[in-house]
Amino acid sequence: RDVHVVGVPMDLGASRRGVDMGPSAMRLAGVAERLRALGHAVEDHGNVRVPDRTSLTGSGREFLPAIAQVCEELAAFTASVVRRGGTPLILGGDHSLGAGSVAGVATALAERGEALGLIWLDAHGDLHTPESSASGNVHGMPVAHLLGLGDPRLAGLAKPGPAVKAEHLVFVGLRDLDPPEQAFIRQAGIRAFTMRDIDERGLRAVMSDALEIATRGTGGVHVSCDADWIDPAEAPGVGTPVRGGATLREAHLAMEILADSDAMLGMDLVEINPILDRRNHTAELAVDLLASAFGRRII
Ligand code: ARG
Ligand code: MN
Ligand code: MN
Ligand code: MN
Repeated sequence: RDVHVVGVPMDLGASRRGVDMGPSAMRLAGVAERLRALGHAVEDHGNVRVPDRTSLTGSGREFLPAIAQVCEELAAFTASVVRRGGTPLILGGDHSLGAGSVAGVATALAERGEALGLIWLDAHGDLHTPESSASGNVHGMPVAHLLGLGDPRLAGLAKPGPAVKAEHLVFVGLRDLDPPEQAFIRQAGIRAFTMRDIDERGLRAVMSDALEIATRGTGGVHVSCDADWIDPAEAPGVGTPVRGGATLREAHLAMEILADSDAMLGMDLVEINPILDRRNHTAELAVDLLASAFGRRII
């Protein structure tokens, strides 16, 4: 693959500071070198420009316009990479960046007349609109905007929108939904595999179903991986930890299954918070998982 890495040092979507340091942490953990060792051509494009939080006034949903600007630049990047046949790899940064990364991939696919599949690995649904969110944090909103809901400055980034149809979207790892998100999943018939599904059926069965959903009728799959889908015992350096997540082995197996599928068009690895981490353990885990997602084999 031709892998094009970009960092998004943004924490404007979260209330807790620190996930803006995620891209540095993954670079220190050797992300580009690891993928090169697997035989990929890797170019690190540096970081997307993100306004300094202290230069902005307000909080929560008031950061939406600034986030939308970052997402617009990021969408232009991922679209251009996919048009050239490359694979965009986005190092976050808070998960609000998904409204941009995924929109750009969707735009490039739409130009070839294809729809985009989306696998969202997360403890959370990130399905709020600015109206439904109690916290106001924009990292809880990217999926709603990718479906075309919410604020047009975020929802309008895919051309023509919406970026993703509900039928091509699937969640894996859910265990913390707010009531409006639960209602939305039920009402819109969104496909979602919770930790209970993984416990009962096993990761292999769940991931096979997720891939089936995201590839049927699409030109490929974007994988948006929130590090908090993994259990905080293994991934303590995340902004919004929730107990009871995927094990280290389940996380690797998910990535290996994605690699085997050959369906992945691009990937986000987001929400790593080095301030809360133990000696960069979570960023190192993220880089290990990326190696699995990009085809690492033991034998
Ligand atoms: N649902 C909660 C909220 O809206 C948590 C969202 C966490 N999202 C994330 N990308 N970590 O505030
Ligand atoms: Mn390039
Ligand atoms: Mn999350
Ligand atoms: Mn998330």
